[in-house]
Amino acid sequence: MKGLFISFEGIDGCGKSTQINLLAKYFAGQKRPFVKTEEPGGTAGSNEIRKMLLKENNFQWSVETETLLFMAARNDHVEKVIKPAIKENKIVICDRFMDSTLVYQGMRSDKAKILSLSLFKLIGTYPDITFLIDMDPEIALNRALSRKTDEDRFENYGINFQYKLRKKFLDIAKKNNKRIKIIDGNQRPETITSQIIENINGLVQ
Ligand SMILES: Nc1ncnc2c1ncn2[C@@H]1O[C@H](COP(=O)(O)OP(=O)(O)O)[C@@H](O)[C@H]1O
Ligand SMILES: [Mg+2]
Repeated sequence: MKGLFISFEGIDGCGKSTQINLLAKYFAGQKRPFVKTEEPGGTAGSNEIRKMLLKENNFQWSVETETLLFMAARNDHVEKVIKPAIKENKIVICDRFMDSTLVYQGMRSDKAKILSLSLFKLIGTYPDITFLIDMDPEIALNRALSRKTDEDRFENYGINFQYKLRKKFLDIAKKNNKRIKIIDGNQRPETITSQIIENINGLVQ
């Protein structure tokens, strides 16, 4: 079987990590080699960048510079983890990828959006399939806040911001409806997982 690149997107607390773990369990049961990774991060170098970007009250960069830092992290991640794994015919499961940059930075600046789109083209590695876990931001935010981490910069923007993010994710999904599958996150975790697996099986057959 050939390699496959799967990304998960959606607002904080929608259930990405939960679904990624359930999917990983499924692939492990199937004895299907996979790599679980995340953005920003996934390599030592891009984790350094992640730490800088997600620190609370770190607003020293313009949104365009922030985008370039995310893209630098992504390039390192693609070169060192994603591309080699696909080449070895593994499944790559990635927690957030290009669509998050388009949403989080793109919504703040057209220039940031253009910068990221141009750099995506140059990097040249797109997910085969993306799952957008869509759900009511009110529920998702409560879920996210109940998990205490020190990487709260984006989560602390509040509920209105989460509604904007949701809309932006849905807009991008509609524009890329071949690649991005919208999954209703307000269902039991196992139900969501089986819908995800159904979509993946449809792709590999
Ligand atoms: N389908 C679901 N139904 C109810 N609670 C869920 C569901 N999926 C995830 N959760 C819970 O919501 C919280 C956030 O989920 P998580 O997977 O960490 O979201 P994300 O990675 O998208 O931020 C966790 O405490 C998780 O256990
Ligand atoms: Mg998560």
